Amino acid sequence: MVQVGCGDIATTGHLPALDRSPAVTLVGVVDVVAEHRDAAAAAYGVPAWTELGPAVAAGARAAVVAVPPHVAPSLTLAAIDAGLDVLCEKPMAVDLASARKVHDAARAAGRIVQIGFKNRFSPLVRAARRWLDDGLIGSPAVYTLGGFDERYDAADTVHVGRIQEFLAHGPSYLHEGAHLADYLAYLTGATPVRVRATGVRSQPRFHGENFVSALVDYANGDAARMEVGWFFPSSPKGEFRILGPRGVALIDRPEQVATLTTRDDDGTLRTEEVRFERPWNDECFDRQLAHFAECVRTRAEPETSTAAGLASLRLGAAVTESLREGTVVVW
Ligand SMILES: NC(=O)c1ccc[n+]([C@@H]2O[C@H](COP(=O)([O-])OP(=O)(O)OC[C@H]3O[C@@H](n4cnc5c(N)ncnc54)[C@H](O)[C@@H]3O)[C@@H](O)[C@H]2O)c1
Repeated sequence: MVQVGCGDIATTGHLPALDRSPAVTLVGVVDVVAEHRDAAAAAYGVPAWTELGPAVAAGARAAVVAVPPHVAPSLTLAAIDAGLDVLCEKPMAVDLASARKVHDAARAAGRIVQIGFKNRFSPLVRAARRWLDDGLIGSPAVYTLGGFDERYDAADTVHVGRIQEFLAHGPSYLHEGAHLADYLAYLTGATPVRVRATGVRSQPRFHGENFVSALVDYANGDAARMEVGWFFPSSPKGEFRILGPRGVALIDRPEQVATLTTRDDDGTLRTEEVRFERPWNDECFDRQLAHFAECVRTRAEPETSTAAGLASLRLGAAVTESLREGTVVVW
């Protein structure tokens, strides 16, 4: 395996997961910035390169691509061309045309390309899915999903530069909302049918809308309010709530607990709780990587395939269009 892109999420998520995994061996790292690739190479005792060629020569059969999403399609296509399977970060691109190229190329070449929707691998999200599947929440359901992070600290020029680069290629929802869109895809499989969104650039210096709120109607009658807020002085706790006629599910990510509250026909209130001690990200990155390794071994379609990546990006593009044009986007 080769790690392509040795920035923040590679350093904090992918490389530690690769290091822990019994299923893969890291043969080296690739990055265009010497400081980034050298630091990763030193930390894991592997060679550092500026491009994929030497990694393939060194025996890499798969790549983790964790570069900014406007760069990701060209590197994922290069990896597919080089005969590698790919675990690519989300969003898989910032525009649908580039994402489709990756999807088509992976299909044509018979390569496994998995998109990094790691959060759906959380045991707490799996519990919510089980409750929905068992009819404990009921239908139609109303989802409230929020993600607030990337706290603004003007003195942290590296962080500000990274987030500004993301915002220059799309509002915060296009990036962080990719996970929120994927939660719904995973939990219900329903297709969005209508999107209304609004967005705010809370300081003129920001390169895009750092706050986005979207209302999404789904074909099965479910509805969702999704919010992403970046670059505020502090980050409120994100929301994960499902309201249904039979039950209410909440996921408290910082507390690492999922709770289901239901009421029996005789009025008795019941609560079920799933707690998880291990840090969310460690668990999600490990499970995501194990799934990728298994798909590479068996040649099975990943759960978070390029089709899932395209579906998530389609919602991201509709949210962007709605907030920028002031329109309701109908599928
Ligand atoms: N799954 C998650 O929870 C999660 C969390 C954070 C970020 N991400 C995603 O991961 C991706 C990377 O984010 P990040 O925060 O690590 O960004 P980053 O800017 O910290 O890191 C990106 C790295 O890619 C390198 N790079 C850029 N162009 C390159 C090229 N052509 N070839 C090789 N290397 C190149 C940069 O030098 C940098 O080291 C983004 O798509 C982001 O949305 C996912």
